[in-house]
Amino acid sequence: MDWGLRNRISRILQPADGRTVMLAVDHGYFLGPTHRLEKPRATIAPLLPYADAIMLTRGVLRTSVDPDADKPMVLRVSGGTSVLQEDLSHETITTSVKEALRLNATAVALSIFVGAPHEHESIVNLAHLVNEAEEFGLPVLAVTAVGKELEKRDARYLSLACRIAAEHGARLVKTYYCEGFHKVAESCPVPVIIAGGPKLETDLDALEMTRDALEAGAVGVDMGRNIWQHDTPVPMIRAVRAIVHEKATVKEAAALLKEKGKR
Ligand code: 5RP
Repeated sequence: MDWGLRNRISRILQPADGRTVMLAVDHGYFLGPTHRLEKPRATIAPLLPYADAIMLTRGVLRTSVDPDADKPMVLRVSGGTSVLQEDLSHETITTSVKEALRLNATAVALSIFVGAPHEHESIVNLAHLVNEAEEFGLPVLAVTAVGKELEKRDARYLSLACRIAAEHGARLVKTYYCEGFHKVAESCPVPVIIAGGPKLETDLDALEMTRDALEAGAVGVDMGRNIWQHDTPVPMIRAVRAIVHEKATVKEAAALLKEKGKR
């Protein structure tokens, strides 16, 4: 692996433990002004110090993150559809590698939609993006998206989707946690990071999911709604961080949510 590529990956997966807490704030690219991400700058600013990397679009990067922010940016470069469509799989590459380099992105991210009507285009998008991005040592993170079919999130489907992503050259894969997640992680030859998915009912649900995913082989989280839709987002990201990087138990992490004065 080239030095540049390795260096970029090591900015995301922390060298001390090989793990990461990514903050996902790219939802607006198809969901518009998502609840509690209506003003991206206001959502991102207090969480920035606690994230290892941020996943976002170029629009939010330019408008809502100061250029002196010393954080790796994982730039979402796929899009082209909105939540108003039944089928969300009709994506293309919307941001060029040249633009990603100009923005000093540390990695680029796109979704693949295995089993969806536009499966073929999305996988070919991944392959082409890898061809182009790797020329510049830019790693590609593939998201195994399920569109509106959240019920697809089982070990058999996610193993298939993650493996396909890795086989086409993704250096990192982002997927969902599921029962039997160790099968997903074990059969994917590159590091797997989990998304949080829609906000879970309780804090413990989100913290337990984080712990279970790590125990089953994930290298971290790329979490959005379970952090910034929380009533106290800063304690929530600190709690997730404690589990990912500090070997905290769920109970120890949950205690951080009760600390006063840090919202
Ligand atoms: C949207 C994404 C999001 O970044 C991803 O789903 C993570 O956010 P959340 O934890 O809210 O699910 O890739 O397609």
